[in-house]
Amino acid sequence: MKKILVTGACGQLGSELSSALAEQYGLENILISDISQPERHLSKFNFSRLDVLNHQAVDQLIREQKIEVVYHLAAMLSASGESRPRNAWTLNMDGLINVLEASRDNQVDRVFWPSSIAAFGSHTQSTDTPQYTIMDPETVYGISKLSGELWCQYFYDRFKLDVRSLRYPGLISYKSPPGGGTTDYAVSIFHSAVKKEVFECFLHQDTKLPMMYISDAIRATIELMAAPRENITVHTSYNLSAFSITPRELTEAIQLHYPSFSSIYKPDFRDLIAKTWPHNLDDSSARKDWNWRHQFELPQVVEVMIRNLNV
Ligand code: SER
Repeated sequence: MKKILVTGACGQLGSELSSALAEQYGLENILISDISQPERHLSKFNFSRLDVLNHQAVDQLIREQKIEVVYHLAAMLSASGESRPRNAWTLNMDGLINVLEASRDNQVDRVFWPSSIAAFGSHTQSTDTPQYTIMDPETVYGISKLSGELWCQYFYDRFKLDVRSLRYPGLISYKSPPGGGTTDYAVSIFHSAVKKEVFECFLHQDTKLPMMYISDAIRATIELMAAPRENITVHTSYNLSAFSITPRELTEAIQLHYPSFSSIYKPDFRDLIAKTWPHNLDDSSARKDWNWRHQFELPQVVEVMIRNLNV
């Protein structure tokens, strides 16, 4: 079994991905790391505190622990990034380059790094966004994702490092709280619904964004990383898609469970960010190269979220 390192393991994606990797590859083969201490639900994991901005520490951990596969998730999301642009750039870029260099220098077998719909911008074709198209991101997070994709491709071309990546849509999950993203309204809304509160939405009611249930995102990640090397034709980052919704549609879907639930709309700077992102993506390369199929549609996601938060 290969020894796996997950950075940013305490985040929304990291905490669920770590558990899925442990189930698939054995708890003893997973080392989780983060800048902050893990919460109780991650206490079963081997944990090593890691600041991904410390190049030497990243290199040492990978070398000493004989890491063969890295999932590098430590990053700052879009909305948080806009309040601290320079910090977001440093964390997202230097963190990635530190991991890529340490992986190259220690013969790591495979690296995963998440990109995002935020890598696109307002001149991108917003419907059925092609795999290769105009990309002119307007947030520092998006700029770091587009640049990061190109760094990943550069390390593949130049050093033969097997780096793989997905452009995640907004991820909906119940296990960890929302973490500073523009798509996070689609998580917070469920917390309001189960508490019988009116939801105050920071997006306009008709702002449409692509979304995905976390289990699909985790499965996509594990399937991409397990695919034979020769099947991978995209070395920047694969478009990945499930369903698309507006806040109004999500509110209506929740009202099928809680008829008196309602949302009020107070669009702020996050709505301007969301309006530069695609409505839905053409993910046919992922479907063709490694057989990607999403499973969760909106009604199932609403049901699962309400069932699990309502305890
Ligand atoms: N979900 C992220 C965000 O909203 C985008 O990748 O920041």
